[in-house]
Amino acid sequence: MGWKTLDDMDLQGKTVLTRVDINVPMEDGAVTDDTRIRRLIPTMTDLMAGGARPVLLAHFGRPKGKVVPEMSLQPLVPALEAAFGAPVVFVADCRGPAAEAAVAALQPGQILLLENTRFHPGEEANDAELAAGMARLGDLYCNDAFSAAHRAHASTEALARLLPACAGRLMEAELKALEAALANPKRPVTAVVGGAKVSSKLDLLGNLVAKVDTLVIGGGMANTFLAAQGIDVGKSLCEHDMTDTARAIMERAAAAGCTILLPTDIVVAREFKAGAASETLAADACPPDAMILDAGPATVDAIARAFASTRTLIWNGPLGAFEIAPFDIATNEAARKAAEFTAAGQLISVAGGGDTVAALNQAGAADSFSYISTAGGAFLEWMEGKDLPGVAALSQ
Ligand code: 3PG
Repeated sequence: MGWKTLDDMDLQGKTVLTRVDINVPMEDGAVTDDTRIRRLIPTMTDLMAGGARPVLLAHFGRPKGKVVPEMSLQPLVPALEAAFGAPVVFVADCRGPAAEAAVAALQPGQILLLENTRFHPGEEANDAELAAGMARLGDLYCNDAFSAAHRAHASTEALARLLPACAGRLMEAELKALEAALANPKRPVTAVVGGAKVSSKLDLLGNLVAKVDTLVIGGGMANTFLAAQGIDVGKSLCEHDMTDTARAIMERAAAAGCTILLPTDIVVAREFKAGAASETLAADACPPDAMILDAGPATVDAIARAFASTRTLIWNGPLGAFEIAPFDIATNEAARKAAEFTAAGQLISVAGGGDTVAALNQAGAADSFSYISTAGGAFLEWMEGKDLPGVAALSQ
């Protein structure tokens, strides 16, 4: 572990600079999915109950060091107030005189939200001067933004070194869940890795084959592995220039004693659209004019059998084109199996990254997973075995 939590800090009367990730989906100025905001409630509750005044630091979008009004954090104020049950005061900078005056005027029971840290070029540059400007605003630093911890930015990295620092409740929960999944798991461990491209998940696959007992590969990237075995995948999404890499991953898996599960049957169609006519075939029988859009029922059965003897499951990415029916079936059924085994107490299931949470929600399985990470890129980098700068800075 090596990092402090809120339990180690004396919060009474302190102004706590709290780095959060409220980079949430919005439409027409309103939050459309407030999951990341709600997951901050335990930290906000504990800060306020401990007598601290929370000052929130956060980014939104990628404004690249410029003030982009559409990426202001101000429109998030109502959603934060609704979730935290406290008034949220907003100030249009994350350092400087206006921010300092707002901190001085902040009343107990109020929360202060500072403007998008990425409006300053120094944020992404991990600039010491910007970090010092932010540090002047508070007594303590609390990082609750695991999902931004893969960025070495001023508000996630440099600032942590300038004030007494701790992890917030969400950061703590994420780190504990991910450590339980990969660093010190109950075995056997199975990982499900899906998604479009091998090339975007090379480091992930490379790290997982050395650590897990079974690796289920699904989605478009499975086609590249099938092609690497000399199977014709017709018009399927496939990175033909990555077949050598796929073969190398299979060799590393064999050497490490990791079983790779690839589709043995496939669902193919001639059109990529909802309700397109489809047929289920053996994995080596894809017609030249068809594309593979999902794994078939025999593959789902094999995955379910693997789950039955698994104690820890890591899930990243869908098994098929889950956004459009009927190509969501393998993802839905495998996810529900994982949920069932988790609910029965025989499996610890941890999921995160990109499309994963949407896929598990769609399957109605997310609520039964042991832990759903709020992180996209940070979840992947953790699973790739990389050090996350925001976590490393807390461990100093
Ligand atoms: C995310 O949405 O995954 C985090 O907020 C990080 O955002 P970024 O990829 O723009 O750094």
